[in-house]
Amino acid sequence: MVCHRASDRFALLYRLLWRISRGERHLLENPADSDAMRAVRYAKAVDRDVYRMHAYVRFARCEMEGAELFATWHEPQHRILRLATPFFVNRFNNMDWLIATPDGTAAWREKRLTFGPPAARPPKVDDNVLDGLWTAYYRTTFNPARLRVSAMMAQMPKRHWATMPETASIRGLVRNAGKRVTDMNACSPEPPPAYAERLAKRMAAVEEPAGKVEPLDALRREVEACRLCPLHAPATQAVFGEGPRESDLMFVGEQPGDHEDLEGRPFVGPAGQVFDRALADAGIDRSKVYVTNAVKHFKFEMRGKRRVHSKPSEGEVAKCRFWLQREIALVKPKLIVALGATAALGLTGRRLAVTRDRGLVVPFNSISLLVTVHPSYLLRLPDQNAAEAEYGRFVEDLKAAQSWCGA
Ligand code: URA
Repeated sequence: MVCHRASDRFALLYRLLWRISRGERHLLENPADSDAMRAVRYAKAVDRDVYRMHAYVRFARCEMEGAELFATWHEPQHRILRLATPFFVNRFNNMDWLIATPDGTAAWREKRLTFGPPAARPPKVDDNVLDGLWTAYYRTTFNPARLRVSAMMAQMPKRHWATMPETASIRGLVRNAGKRVTDMNACSPEPPPAYAERLAKRMAAVEEPAGKVEPLDALRREVEACRLCPLHAPATQAVFGEGPRESDLMFVGEQPGDHEDLEGRPFVGPAGQVFDRALADAGIDRSKVYVTNAVKHFKFEMRGKRRVHSKPSEGEVAKCRFWLQREIALVKPKLIVALGATAALGLTGRRLAVTRDRGLVVPFNSISLLVTVHPSYLLRLPDQNAAEAEYGRFVEDLKAAQSWCGA
C-alpha cells in the first residue's frame, strides 16, 4: 500500500496503525470502514501494477558501456520498482539486465542487484528475433471469439504498448477478428474426449504396485480409482486419510476443500489450519493420529473462476461410507472424533444434533465416538468473542478425546 502514489497513503497508514494499536485488531476485514477499504483498494492497485510489470516488461538487447545487456523501459503506475524486481532476479538470473523507470533503475549485473536514480530510456537495438517471438506468441494466443476491446485495454493499458513489440499487431488482429470468428464457426468442431475416455485415463494413472502392499496403501489406490458417485469426475483427485497405520484416535471431517483437492491431503487449507492449532492447544500431536474425511472427493460449484464448497448429499455420503468403514477397519481406532454433522452422518448413517450431543463419548459399534463441531464452523462465526469461546470449547472436546484414549 505504501507503494501507491496517492498523497494520503502515509496519513492513512498512520491512522490505521493507530486504530489497530488501540484494539481494532480486525479493522482491515471490516467492509464498512472507509479507511480500511481505501487501504485495501490501494493495496490491490499496487498488486495489479506489479502483476502488469511482471507481464509486460519486454527486454531488448542493447549495448551499454561496450557490453551486451538486456534492457527495458517500463512506466509503472505506482512506485513498485523495488517490490517487483525480485521476480526478475529469479526469472532472469543468468543474464545481465536493466529495468529503467521514471522512478529509478534496477540493474542485475554479474549476479548483483543495484538500484539507482532515474535514467534515460535505454537505446534499443533492433531485435528481429526477440520481437518476432513476442509477436508470434501474441498472434497465436489471441482468441478472436473472446475479443472484448474495453477489457483488453483495461488489462493492458496503452502506456505500456510502446515497449511491447507484439502490440504492433493488435490493430490488425482486432480488425480481422469478426471474419476469423465466422471462419471458425464454419469449421466443424472437434469433440471433447468422451467421458469414458477421461475415466480410462485416470484409471490408467493409478499405478500397479510392485510386490507386497500395505493394506492401507492398497485401499488408497482403490479410493483413487473410485467412481461410485459422480463427484470424482470434476475433482482433481481423491483425498485419502493420513496418519499412522494403527492409531488410537481417528478424526473424520466432511470432505476435502479446494486446497485439499489440489494437494491430495486432508485438512491442509484454512479449516486445516484451525484444526492444527486446536490439536496443538489440546496437546495432540497430529502425526500420531489418523485424519480422514467422510467423503473423499471435493464437491464444488463454479462461481466465476472460483470453486466454491458445496455440501455433499446424503446419497454421496452414503456411497463413500463404503470407504470410510474399510479405513476404520484397518486403522482400528479406539475412539473416532466426528468433526461436524456430515462426518457424524458418514459414520453413523444418522443425522445427529452436533451442538446438543457434542463432547460426549458414546459407544459406536465396537469403538467409541465423540462428536464435535467442524473447524470451518469456527471460521464462519462473525462475532469475535463467540468465535473465541467456541474455539475454547472445541479444544476442550479434543482434550476430552485425548484423555479418553488414555494418552
Ligand atoms: N474440511 C474437511 O472436512 N476436510 C478437509 O480435509 C478440509 C476441510
